[in-house]
Amino acid sequence: MPLGYYDDWVKAADEESKHFNLMCDCLENHGSFYGALPAHAGMWRAAEDTIDDFQGRLAVVPMVLEARGLDVTPGMIEIFRKAGDTKAVAALEVIYAEEVGHVAYGSKWFNYLCGREASDPKPVFHELVKKYFKGSLKPPFNEEKRAEAGLPPDFYWPLTDQGKN
Ligand SMILES: [Fe+2]
Repeated sequence: MPLGYYDDWVKAADEESKHFNLMCDCLENHGSFYGALPAHAGMWRAAEDTIDDFQGRLAVVPMVLEARGLDVTPGMIEIFRKAGDTKAVAALEVIYAEEVGHVAYGSKWFNYLCGREASDPKPVFHELVKKYFKGSLKPPFNEEKRAEAGLPPDFYWPLTDQGKN
């Protein structure tokens, strides 16, 4: 892959480590700590499932799972804003802004790979998500931020329950 591919993911990893610390600080502000509460392991499971499929990982991790973060984070920000937790609001706003970039890296390099193989990105994306992601994608979608990150509606709508019918 071109050098820019590695630059993008090193930057994403650096930001993810910052996000982790922001979340740890939020938990500690409330007298808790990371690990005290149950959490899902969807991201890790997806990494394991796509261990031998580089393009499948781009489809599922940034373009499905991280894109889901763009859908749900505004609602989370609102909840913390109403609760008066300004530190959590500030942390989530940083995460929200930077996650758009991670989804964009995913679409950029996914499309790059499709171009290199002269394949049409949309059907390839649908096939890989069906193979590695269990279940349907769940609206409502943050169409604006998804578009900003290079994810067009015809990539994700056909993978919803509605779109499959
Ligand atoms: Fe991310």
